[in-house]
Amino acid sequence: MPTPIATAVPVAHAAILGLGVYRPRRVVPNHDIVDAIDSSDEWIKTRSGIAARRWASEDETIVSMSVAAARDALAAADIDAAQIDTVILATSSLMVLGPSAGAVVATELGMHDTAAFDISAGCAGFCYALADAANLVRSGQARRVLVIGVERLTDLLDVHDRGTAFIFADGAGAVVVGPAEQEGIGPVAWGSDGSKTSAIKQDKDFQQYFAEVAAAEAAGTTSERPYIRMNGTEVFRWAVTFLEKACRDALDRAGVAASDLDAFVPHQANLRIVDALVRVLELPDDVAVAHDIVESGNTSAASIPMAMEQLLRSGAAKPGDTALLLGFGAGLAYAGQVVALPPIVA
Ligand code: UT7
Repeated sequence: MPTPIATAVPVAHAAILGLGVYRPRRVVPNHDIVDAIDSSDEWIKTRSGIAARRWASEDETIVSMSVAAARDALAAADIDAAQIDTVILATSSLMVLGPSAGAVVATELGMHDTAAFDISAGCAGFCYALADAANLVRSGQARRVLVIGVERLTDLLDVHDRGTAFIFADGAGAVVVGPAEQEGIGPVAWGSDGSKTSAIKQDKDFQQYFAEVAAAEAAGTTSERPYIRMNGTEVFRWAVTFLEKACRDALDRAGVAASDLDAFVPHQANLRIVDALVRVLELPDDVAVAHDIVESGNTSAASIPMAMEQLLRSGAAKPGDTALLLGFGAGLAYAGQVVALPPIVA
């Protein structure tokens, strides 16, 4: 007879208790980047909706942006860092393989002996991390989880690449997830398709790069560093066809109808994708739809918390409103869930 092993004591419900963001200081309007890619403000606005984006300066690191966003999330939730027992950080642009940024962020926030780790799920990273956090809280394994989505995509950006230079940007968003009397985070609908790796990826891995550097040195030539590349049309097509089902699955699993929604916060990849999803889901006109991409560009794992904050800050949505979140991107991975929107700091 095996020795009985106790399980954690579950709680009934989890919710997002507070939200904070960090937007880099430097605003980069379209006219600052168009010459390098032979483009125009009008083309970028028409094709993507983007008017400007934020690019991080040297001191605005993955860790410092995460810490700033987390401080506001903790303040909005009215809890101390010491009350957090798990940190999950989602990113695809950390330029070191270890240690995890989550562990460093936890220590910078004054936490001790806190479980902390990073996850990589491209632009779906925040929603993946949110699902994990909700499950940890409901299972009783964690009491309060800090979830962070953060990117410094400019570290991977080829500013001469017409397909990516105008899209990607930097920023951070954080939420606190904890127990609640009523459910605030619905079951996740998620998946991935590794056969579509070439649609968005780092164009060469570091082993390949080092081999190229050695060969170039021997030949007296130069080699090009790795960059993020995207087949925009392929991703666009996938987003506007496949993702309707992901949204409907997330709604069904939460028992919420599209007409019950107060807000829709999809990943901010392209305004045309947002509009297409609103159309196919037949969202009523009074549903507030996040359009943070216009001023923030595509911040990958940070885009959903940043877009939630923008909706709340503008007054278009309010804490407690029912919102559908949908992250999607490299992997091709996606994750969506229905949530009750959290408070932000004044
Ligand atoms: O966050 C992860 C998920 N990412 C996404 O969901 C991104 C999805 N994809 C997109 O957002 C869009 O595909 C883009 C915004 C990246 C591109 O828009 P598009 O409508 O798919 O443009 P395209 O690549 O089909 O190019 C259309 C035309 C081409 O010219 P012709 O062949 O029609 O004469 C391109 O050469 O636009 C040209 N073009 C540009 N022109 C000015 C391509 N890039 C540029 C540019 N500036 N930067």
